[in-house]
Amino acid sequence: MCGIVGIIGHNDISAELLKMLHGLEYRGYDSSGIAVNFNGDFQVYKKAGPLSVLRQEIEGITLQGTSGIGHTRWATHGAPTDNNAHPFLSLNSSVTVVHNGIIENYKVLRKTLLEKGYVMASETDSEVIAHLIELFVDNNPNWTFRDLVVYLSDTLEGAYALLIQFADKPNEIYGLRFECPLAYVQTANTVAISSDIASLIGYDRNINILRDGQAVHITLDNEELINFDSTEVDRLHVSVDWDVKAAEKSGYDYFLRKEIDEQSDSVRALKRTLIDKAEKITAFIKDTNPDTVIFIACGSASYSGVFASVFARHAELKQTVSWEIGSEFRYNPPIINEKTLVIGMSQSGETADTVTALRYAKSKGAKVISIINVVGSTISMIGDLTINLSAGPEVAVPSTKAVINQFISAVFLIEVLRNQEQDFLTQWLLTVDELATVIGKIIEQEEVIKNYAKQLAGHQNMFIVGRGLDYSISLEGALKLKETAYIHAEAMYAGEFKHGSISLIEYGMPVLILLGDESVAAKTIINAEEVATRGGQLFIIDSLAGENFDFSCEVNYIKIPPIKKPFNLISQIVVLQLLAYHAGLHRNINVDKPRNLAKSVTVE
Ligand code: F6R
Repeated sequence: MCGIVGIIGHNDISAELLKMLHGLEYRGYDSSGIAVNFNGDFQVYKKAGPLSVLRQEIEGITLQGTSGIGHTRWATHGAPTDNNAHPFLSLNSSVTVVHNGIIENYKVLRKTLLEKGYVMASETDSEVIAHLIELFVDNNPNWTFRDLVVYLSDTLEGAYALLIQFADKPNEIYGLRFECPLAYVQTANTVAISSDIASLIGYDRNINILRDGQAVHITLDNEELINFDSTEVDRLHVSVDWDVKAAEKSGYDYFLRKEIDEQSDSVRALKRTLIDKAEKITAFIKDTNPDTVIFIACGSASYSGVFASVFARHAELKQTVSWEIGSEFRYNPPIINEKTLVIGMSQSGETADTVTALRYAKSKGAKVISIINVVGSTISMIGDLTINLSAGPEVAVPSTKAVINQFISAVFLIEVLRNQEQDFLTQWLLTVDELATVIGKIIEQEEVIKNYAKQLAGHQNMFIVGRGLDYSISLEGALKLKETAYIHAEAMYAGEFKHGSISLIEYGMPVLILLGDESVAAKTIINAEEVATRGGQLFIIDSLAGENFDFSCEVNYIKIPPIKKPFNLISQIVVLQLLAYHAGLHRNINVDKPRNLAKSVTVE
């Protein structure tokens, strides 16, 4: 949450900072701001609202200076106002700071500063950092980079990625990372530093990633990287093969729609990654020889774990496979030991709830596989083994292509637990191509889906119903409709309806029925008819081979071309994505940036 950027070496500095922030806006869009250092004076512009408001504010103003820092905010402490927007200036304007994370002891720090005569211009936890640095420098005129880092890491409690500039050091940026991501590139004439590699690849694909507890001091021709605790520095470089165009709209109105279209390619990319890595994964699982497997994740990323836990039963695995929500895991203490394999699933690789849960599991002796989409992310570094989802950059806040790849990789791991023959696994992975083809065919039915979405958009409440493996798909569909179309969609086990929730059914209420798990389809249909009898309006998504099922009532029917289990079930997600997308458009929602959300949730 919140995106921070910094750049040195550009004449058109404000344009460059805005460009970088544009690539990070999905991390938060409550406010944005920039500070440019011109000959020792900071020019600060910050506005509540999305980046477009800041863009308008500085239109026509030529900012001089060749370095600066910027911020896009997801509000935690303090409402989304101009005053609470970053960057923050210190009292005497000698320091500017942008911060991602939460300073947990800010109240104490604030009180101390107020007592010393400092004045707070905002209600945020972050502003104290700028004043503290100024105070530190005033008290320690001969300070060094290391002194500053030791001071800040000793003083600040919580999570932070920080960028700091000093008025009298125009072409230098200081960055600190503690439990929030930070990475940088250094080319012949540019230094760029950011929360996210997506805004760096336009400058260079060879990215330097700060590990937790590291700090960097960079200029155009120098760079010093240190650990907070003065231990030997373990550098991390990654080379990112993401296409720069993949992070652009390329003619689409919304990233969300573009990313839905990209899914055929992204599942093929994952297939290649898994084929390349199959032997390593197999060896790791053989070595671990787990008797318990736990998927840990949050939101959409968690549903692949729900799916895998049911799929494991169909596969008659000897291990117990379960799933847990990251934010709950530590507080409902699970039994974990060296025979526990934990699978952390995360698109961003930065979700704080998942990070803490995985660290907890590791501290109890579990082996961890991290499945992430962002190389060099925090979760990628926690894993004893890391698998890249290979979905390419995902910009829209509602996750699509990463989710599909999460389902595929979760099921793949179940297959590895069941059968470690390399030929079998390669053959299994080759069938992923069929899913890629079917995704394209589902998208060809967009006009029909769009029409159904229009009907859904007229309702505030709906159910998505499935049994068995379909239930995890209904969870994902419900979340997509909630976040993208603001429709209160509830996932429901078909058999559970009659135990209470069916009382909510009234004339015209939409109920979406998933028919992907053949072992329970006949029973689901009976439950669907019970809903229709009470006035519910049925929408059927049928991914089973054969003719359409016969219903004794009128239904809206979407038939997915036949494809092998479990890919037929996974393909249903694409229909749900398109329904959510079009329902959101009908409701005039900015589907790329739904209200109150951020893509990378780095606070607990
Ligand atoms: C929904 C969505 C979220 C994420 C969740 C976890 O579309 O994107 O529910 O799945 O916040 O995020 P990651 O996968 O980055 O850990």
